[in-house]
Amino acid sequence: MEIRTGLGWDNHRIAEGRPLILGGVRVECGFGFEGHSDADVLSHALTDALLGALALGDIGMHFPDTDPRWKGCDSLVFLRHAASLVRERGFEISNVDATVILQRPKLKDYREPIRDCLAAALGLERDRVSVKFKTAEKVGPVGEGKSGEAQAAVLLIKS
Ligand code: C5P
Ligand code: MG
Repeated sequence: MEIRTGLGWDNHRIAEGRPLILGGVRVECGFGFEGHSDADVLSHALTDALLGALALGDIGMHFPDTDPRWKGCDSLVFLRHAASLVRERGFEISNVDATVILQRPKLKDYREPIRDCLAAALGLERDRVSVKFKTAEKVGPVGEGKSGEAQAAVLLIKS
């Protein structure tokens, strides 16, 4: 049996009037993240964690933000692609765990829709997909509402 782990991190600047997308779910809010794609910081961190576990570089290598194909793109496309690379190499995703760090809005009511959406994109049961939320205690760029971050960890198994 072979076990691999991967880590991902991402951040995006907050911008008025952009849609806020987290794990493929639209969060009702007056601001969103700047970015070339839909700027889904959570999906980006998870994608990097999967690529990292396979030692296949990072999201910018697979989906350059200079490529017009990815402008405004649904970031679940990146996540599904990373999950397909995992399976092509004979691995299964055992579980994923992620944290979104955003000062506001409160996200806990979005937890189950986000888990469902990520589980579907990854081809996993919902109980293998964990999503957590933290403020930054009003400190630093995240705490001051200038940006938001996500961290992710994954475990892959080949039996
Ligand atoms: O950052 P803090 O520890 O104060 O967060 C307390 C709880 O608030 C978190 O465990 C999470 O459930 C929730 N939370 C949230 N949305 C955020 C930040 C935190 O629902 N943007
Ligand atoms: Mg990103």
